[in-house]
Amino acid sequence: MAEKKRVFSGIQPSGRLHIGNYLGAICNWLPMQDDHFCIYGIVDYHAMTVHFNPEEMEQCIFNAAIDYLAAGIDPERSILMVQSTVSEHTELAWVLNTITPIGWLSRVPTFKEKRQANPDYVHMGLFDYPVLMAADIVLYKAEVVPVGDDQVPHLELTREIVRKFNSMFGPTFPEPKAKLGDVPRVLGLDGVNKMSKSLDNCLYLDETREELWKKLSTAVTDTKRKRRTDPGDPLVCNIYTMHKGFSPDKDVEYCARECRAAGIGCIDCKKILLENMIQALGPLQERQKDLRSKPAVVYDILKNGHDRAKKIAIETMREVYERIGISKYHKH
Ligand code: TRP
Repeated sequence: MAEKKRVFSGIQPSGRLHIGNYLGAICNWLPMQDDHFCIYGIVDYHAMTVHFNPEEMEQCIFNAAIDYLAAGIDPERSILMVQSTVSEHTELAWVLNTITPIGWLSRVPTFKEKRQANPDYVHMGLFDYPVLMAADIVLYKAEVVPVGDDQVPHLELTREIVRKFNSMFGPTFPEPKAKLGDVPRVLGLDGVNKMSKSLDNCLYLDETREELWKKLSTAVTDTKRKRRTDPGDPLVCNIYTMHKGFSPDKDVEYCARECRAAGIGCIDCKKILLENMIQALGPLQERQKDLRSKPAVVYDILKNGHDRAKKIAIETMREVYERIGISKYHKH
């Protein structure tokens, strides 16, 4: 049997997960475990490129591990590891740095955005972020990278770096492809901006029924639908987007039809969504609680992930050293 294609994706250890992360990323990742070999890295070095608190970093990594395990990353089939524990990530990033023109990096949209948002915090790591990301991916020769649409330019850059490396030193890395999720961008409760912690417009995965309802009940829907008797347009409604992520087809169809016909109001539609959300999130929250009470299990999973990732990383680097002509000095 042919070997399964490799998948790599990075998890930012930046705090609580929200519904946007869940539908946009996690739901995209989980089914890949069936027919791919998946490696998921908690990217602590990437998290260091923005303001961070060293006293909270360990806890953030732990929380990220718990969230993703509870959501369904299966450590028997997939690798869950902490990026900085496999030093080959940064070693390969250095090699890739030496072939990546500065011009390519200065065109990256996320760099331009972050520089503008935080002019006092522009450093080499921020500039180089996409090269470390490229190293994360190609270190495992991943061919598929499940990501949100904001990461697509980074993947394009990775492919350019791969092409350049392969043409300079011989065919070594496959060109990875981005895989976008089925649920389009999930907006925040304001119905305008992307769901994001910094905008305080999120539903979180660990919220109770009461908390979820409090937020959902006031969430913005189709703003043109002023009265219960007005027909609405599900296609411009963020609640409908969430339905597509959480509800069975029959509920999605029902809500779309009845919204257009003014058969149900927004509150009815939100109640159906709430029930379907709880169906998915309830068991997830149970698993979160369970893992939180067993930190040793989580550390073991990460240690095992490290060991398995390290093996692949060492193999790839051996090949890279060969290609760039320094392998003689790595043979001890
Ligand atoms: N840049 C990604 C993000 O912000 C995280 C990430 C780091 C990543 N390395 C990666 C994603 C490698 C995919 C592959 O979400």
